[in-house]
Amino acid sequence: MSTQTANQTVLVTGASSGIGQGIAIAFGQKEANVIVNYHSDEDGARQTLDEIEKGGGKGFICKADVSKEEDVARMFQAALEAYGTVDVLVSNAGIQQDSAFAEMTLDQWNKVMNTNLTGYFLCAREAIKIFNQKGEAGPDDKAKGNIIFMSSVHDIIPWAGHVNYASSKGGILMLMKSLALEVAPKKIRINAISPGAIATDINEDVWNDEEKRKELLKLIPYKRIGKPEDVAKVAVWLASPDSDYVTGTTIYVDGGMTLYPGFVNNG
Ligand code: BGC
Repeated sequence: MSTQTANQTVLVTGASSGIGQGIAIAFGQKEANVIVNYHSDEDGARQTLDEIEKGGGKGFICKADVSKEEDVARMFQAALEAYGTVDVLVSNAGIQQDSAFAEMTLDQWNKVMNTNLTGYFLCAREAIKIFNQKGEAGPDDKAKGNIIFMSSVHDIIPWAGHVNYASSKGGILMLMKSLALEVAPKKIRINAISPGAIATDINEDVWNDEEKRKELLKLIPYKRIGKPEDVAKVAVWLASPDSDYVTGTTIYVDGGMTLYPGFVNNG
């Protein structure tokens, strides 16, 4: 398979841990230039960059809060100064602030929306501006830019106790589709990946607890918790010319979590 990511410039938000870290490293192994965005975990971002360099890629770490317009503009400017362009945005930085609905504070709601949805808007807008500057592309040309939004199975699976998070992910679904429609004629592709339970810091309290882990596995027909690499491989493919006719779609990387697991022996 020709993934042709060598020399591509890829900006990954939230790349200091978890899925974002796995994705940034996977692009590094394809010899891409990777901008490793982080919010607070500088050591994590440095580890990501080390792995990228070991894999044959290059890059730099960039602290930025994706929910702040000026931070996002500065980050894309730094990418332009370093590599002249951006070819792929993986908008991945996301948070959970869980609470029963009646007790959910406005701050918990806003934090999640600002990072998970507004952050995706701000980063995508900068990426689209850069893609637009690449000049006209004909119908037979490959995409001149790619955006991958990291969503979640909770863009379609309702999640009690996590209404802010699920709402942000549902929003990403329509952000992805509407933007894909708008920019497809310009040969820009927009897709989403919706992971299920991938073992990262965000859900460590679940997979690290024997009882909760057992309960979680009941929701996964494939009977294993995912790894960041499971998602990273799909991201590399979605950013490559091998998927050139794929736009406006979501790939669920979830071990079957969206298949109504309760129906495996019932119904
Ligand atoms: C959440 C995880 C959760 C998974 C499956 C993800 O989007 O961030 O905490 O384990 O969905 O429910």
